[in-house]
Amino acid sequence: MNDMVNLHGQQAAQEKRGSDLLDSHHANIKLEKSNIVLLGPTGSGKTLLAQTLARCLDVPFAICDCTTLTQAGYVGEDIESVVAKLLQDANYSVEKAQQGIVFLDEVDKIGSVPGIHQLRDVGGEGVQQGLLKLLEGTIINVPEKNSRKLRGDTVQVDTTNILFVASGAFNGLDSIISRRKCEKYLGFGTPSNMGQGRRAAAAADLANRSGAEMDAVLEMEEKDRLLSHVEARDLIEFGMIPEFVGRMPVVVSLHSLDEETLVRILTEPRNAVIPQYQALFSMDKCELNVTPDALRAIAQLALERKTGARGLRSIMETLLLEPMFEVPHSNIMAVELNKDVVLGKSVPVYVKAPPKESVEEEYDSGIEESWPRQADVANN
Ligand SMILES: Nc1ncnc2c1ncn2[C@@H]1O[C@H](COP(=O)(O)OP(=O)(O)OP(=O)(O)O)[C@@H](O)[C@H]1O
Ligand SMILES: [Mg+2]
Repeated sequence: MNDMVNLHGQQAAQEKRGSDLLDSHHANIKLEKSNIVLLGPTGSGKTLLAQTLARCLDVPFAICDCTTLTQAGYVGEDIESVVAKLLQDANYSVEKAQQGIVFLDEVDKIGSVPGIHQLRDVGGEGVQQGLLKLLEGTIINVPEKNSRKLRGDTVQVDTTNILFVASGAFNGLDSIISRRKCEKYLGFGTPSNMGQGRRAAAAADLANRSGAEMDAVLEMEEKDRLLSHVEARDLIEFGMIPEFVGRMPVVVSLHSLDEETLVRILTEPRNAVIPQYQALFSMDKCELNVTPDALRAIAQLALERKTGARGLRSIMETLLLEPMFEVPHSNIMAVELNKDVVLGKSVPVYVKAPPKESVEEEYDSGIEESWPRQADVANN
């Protein structure tokens, strides 16, 4: 009995000592960063997010394109150039650069392709391997300002506190996730269909697109739902090496843009598509009016194209091709786009000024063009 009490006492003491130990260490605990993977369909604003962040934050920020990187020793950009860019953004202050953020864009393009047996995958897996130590924290030598690469003037940058955000579309990842979930729930699916990698995933995605005539919106929702369940192993199956994925503890998926968001993107941001075209037309003293239902129709068309917000611009380009040809040096005062025009049922409505006025106006504005003068002569 005595023993037991003693034991209890000891345990309590040990626990106390343990927590004391923890408390005393609490003050100088080392906080580690959590690198992030951002994934989402093409045109959903990943790169834009990074660019906007770069403008708002006052820490050094570098956006790097992973597609140009190659393993050390091969023609192409070296992996160290990632940190060199950050150092440049920090105005060559090493201290600042060590607290910066690096955005690795298009990281899915350095996924390995298992089907193809190359001796060395210098642009894919090789780059991932090269990035490993960088992501974790190491001291690397970066060429100094104004120094040639081979002369060897370098500064040392510690990457321990640099936050890495990797982003990519990971096209076809949803089919990998759905396959994994099926295996789990239904119990079939042999290990032989594992490890197909990104080429196969993308190909399957393409086949799905042309095959099943599914509603675009439904399909998007389904994909978003699957992507929200993404786990590290899906990324590994996609072609990222486990060591790389392991160093990226946070995986976030962006959802695709819906109709309402697309309408807002058309009109609201500072450099939105519609104001851009309106500015273009105003150079020819012409107004461009787009009705609200036309905006919706454009957004719906863009949804069908599955290129995200990028589709908006190409649709506007097609719609306005003829007006942009007609308007310069004409007496058209306004162009109106309504829903029927967007759906291809009618042509854009032109509002024309009375011919004489327009001639005078253009003559007054002093534009040295042959056409108004000829018209003027004809009028007289
Ligand atoms: N949320 C948004 N708000 C405003 N504009 C957007 C938004 N998302 C996308 N856009 C528009 O779409 C264009 C393309 O977006 P972005 O370049 O960010 O796509 P992405 O996600 O990087 O695609 P990818 O995977 O193909 O590189 C942007 O230039 C911007 O005009
Ligand atoms: Mg991008």
